[in-house]
Amino acid sequence: MASQKLRPNIYWVGAVDWDRRLFDELIPLPDGTSYNSYFIKGSEKTALIDAVYPPKEGELLKHLKELDVERIDYVIANHAEQDHSGAIPRILELYPDAKVITNPKCKTMLMDLLLIPDEKFTTVEDNGTLSLGDKTLRFLYVPWVHWPETMFTYLEEEKILFTCDFLGSHLATSDFFVTDEAKTYEAAKRYYAEIMMPFRSFVRKNLEKIEDLDIELVAPSHGPVYDNPDFILDAYQDWASGEVKNEVVLLYVSMYGSTGKMVNFLLDALIKRGITVKPFNLTKTDIGELAMALVDTATIVIASPTVLGGPHPDVVHAAYLVNAFRPKARFAAIIGSYGWGGKMVDKIGELLSNLKAEMLEAVLVKGHPRKEDFRSLENLAEKIYNKHKEHRIIKS
Ligand code: FEO
Repeated sequence: MASQKLRPNIYWVGAVDWDRRLFDELIPLPDGTSYNSYFIKGSEKTALIDAVYPPKEGELLKHLKELDVERIDYVIANHAEQDHSGAIPRILELYPDAKVITNPKCKTMLMDLLLIPDEKFTTVEDNGTLSLGDKTLRFLYVPWVHWPETMFTYLEEEKILFTCDFLGSHLATSDFFVTDEAKTYEAAKRYYAEIMMPFRSFVRKNLEKIEDLDIELVAPSHGPVYDNPDFILDAYQDWASGEVKNEVVLLYVSMYGSTGKMVNFLLDALIKRGITVKPFNLTKTDIGELAMALVDTATIVIASPTVLGGPHPDVVHAAYLVNAFRPKARFAAIIGSYGWGGKMVDKIGELLSNLKAEMLEAVLVKGHPRKEDFRSLENLAEKIYNKHKEHRIIKS
C-alpha cells in the first residue's frame, strides 16, 4: 500500500500485513494487521514515529523513498516491542545522524532487544517536549499498556495522539481512517482483550491521564486511524470499567458426553433465567473470540472431564489464559465428570489464582450425570441468577 497523507507534512509510512494469521505464535489474526509508522516534517527537523516489524521494513523504506526523505533527525520509540521497533536499526544505518527519542526504560529495553548503542539515544521526561520547528511533540509516559516502557507522543499543533499499541486493532484495511465502525469495534475489542485486559487498572489510569488532552486524531500503530477519537476512547472506558454484563462464558471439553450433557443442561437452565450464555468448545476455540467474551462477562463456568487425574489439557490451556487475562468476572464455577477419582476441580482452581471472582460450589459427577446431578446444576444456575440479581447485573 502506498504512503498516505494524514495532514500536511504528516504521513503514514507503515506496512499492512494482509496475510499474517498469528501474532507472538499465540494470537490468531483473522483480519491480518498493520504496523503503522508516521513521518512528520517540521520546518526545522523531521521525525519518524515508531518503525515496523522487520520482515516489513522494505515497505517502510519504500515509503520514505516515495516521499524523498533525505533526513530523519529523530526516531520516536513509543514502545520497545519488535513489531514497532524492529526496523529501527536499519533506519539508523540509513540515517546515521538520527537520534532515537524515548524514555529511559524503553532505551534500556531497546539496547537489550536490538543492541542499539547508548550514543544513539536521547531520553525524554514525562510530559517533556521536542520541537521540530513549527511542530511540537509532547511525550507522555503511560506505563504498562502493555509493557513497562510504553509512551504516547502528542503532536500539539495538529492535536494528534500517537498511541502505539493502545487503542489499536489488528485489522489490515486499505481504509486509512475508520470507515466501518462495527468492524473496527470488533477488531479493537479483540485487541483490547488479548493485549490490554490484563492491565485494566493501568488502562484506566492512562485514560485519565489523557482525559483533558484536546485530541482530533488518534493514530495507533496497529489498525486504522480514528478521526472520531471518542469512538475508541468511550469503548475503552467501557471495557476497562468495573461494569459486567448479565452473561456466562461457558468453557468446556467433553470426551464421552457426560460433561457435554452437564454443559447442555446448564446452558438451558441459564438461558431460561434470561442470562446470555457464550459457550466455547475448547477443542475448536479461537482464543481471541474467547478473550473478547471475557471482557464483559459476569460469570465464568469451566467444564472438564478428568484425564490422568486432572483437567483435560485443552481446559488447562484455557484456564491458564483466563488467569493471565485477568477478566473482571465476579463469579466462577467448575463443573465436570470423572471415572474413578482425581483432582480435576482443585487443579483448575489452582490455575485461576489471579481471578478475583467468587468461586461458587462445584458440581462434580461420577460417570454419567444422574437426576440429583441435574438438580445440582439447576441449583448452580439459580445461584448464578441470584448472584447476578443481588449485584444488580440483572437490571430489572
Ligand atoms: Fe504491537 Fe506491543 O506491540
